[in-house]
Amino acid sequence: MCRVIKECVTTLNSQDMIKLIKQLAGEHAIEAEGLRRLLAACGDDNTFNQLRDKAAQIAREQFGFGIFTRGLIEISCYCRNNCYYCGLRRDNKNASRYRLSDEEILACCKDGYSAGLRTFVLQGGEDAAFTDERLVNLILQLRHQCPEAAITLSLGERKAESYQRLYEAGASRYLLRHEAANRDLYEQIHPGEMSHANRIDCIKTLTRIGYQAGMGMMVGVPSQTIDHLVEDLLLMQKIRPAMIGIGTFIPHPDTPLGSAPTGDLRLTLAVIAITRLMHPDANIPATTALASLSPTGYLDGILSGANVVMPNISPLAARPKYEIYPGKEHSQNDITSTLNNLSQQLATKNYHL
Ligand code: 5AD
Ligand code: SF4
Repeated sequence: MCRVIKECVTTLNSQDMIKLIKQLAGEHAIEAEGLRRLLAACGDDNTFNQLRDKAAQIAREQFGFGIFTRGLIEISCYCRNNCYYCGLRRDNKNASRYRLSDEEILACCKDGYSAGLRTFVLQGGEDAAFTDERLVNLILQLRHQCPEAAITLSLGERKAESYQRLYEAGASRYLLRHEAANRDLYEQIHPGEMSHANRIDCIKTLTRIGYQAGMGMMVGVPSQTIDHLVEDLLLMQKIRPAMIGIGTFIPHPDTPLGSAPTGDLRLTLAVIAITRLMHPDANIPATTALASLSPTGYLDGILSGANVVMPNISPLAARPKYEIYPGKEHSQNDITSTLNNLSQQLATKNYHL
């Protein structure tokens, strides 16, 4: 194709895409074909920039320039599961494991509360040591210690009764990424002992109980295609979760997917932006994976429509050990400097915590 025609086609295509972006921003819903075209067109700088700008604008209309902070405490890196992508999988004998005591967890929250944090996320592998009884007790103590704080859990798949007990104790939000809407893809990145149907059931159960539920997936896992991402976006369009976490796949050498390439950061940002257009009022974090791949990752996420950051407030010694992928961003700063650094990064684009 001659250069002029090629440019014409690109321009036309990009104008088409701008129409599609505007339509999506107005209607918050879209068909598979539109999503496919939009994702495929994100290689074009103009389309990519317009998409991100629109998403950031929608987020600002909803939340202003204030970014929500959630204090993340990684309570255990023991996991009974064996996900093919994750460094915490049980068969990774090179992982150095830890489990925080209740006192340590409460101390992290206390410090976070004094620094102004009002939401805590207790995240961990599926560790049998965190029984319902222990968690209920922990949640009750946490509520007593930090009365105004919202408690979010991210502890994987549990029984419906367990989710119910934890909710009744006072946890009000639960993050459980669906990882892949497409069952074949799900089965390619998880061992046979894990069930796609159970994963989706858990998310539905959480919502039914009354939790604000979080879903999400990685962009760039091996074998993932644009069509798989379309399925992810359509599943979330159907379920309408309150929170949506989207990161980039980063290979961990001690896992079966360790030699696969890193996912594409730009495509991740595009998926976040499309997600924002589809879910104007969802809480969408600028994920740690973004910050691990780029020094401006958090800001890049926010400029693609994210409205939440989740600074790690785990004990300093624990942070390097929670290695779901190598190079995971884990500053060795105390809470105050972490929040200050984040504030400075955000302030370059007029955002604040
Ligand atoms: N790269 C990026 N994200 C990962 N996760 C797990 N392993 C990786 C990896 N190698 C994500 C999964 C999981 C969350 C805890 O972290 O989506 O839900
Ligand atoms: Fe365990 Fe979650 Fe890692 Fe899977 S992704 S191995 S469930 S910590």
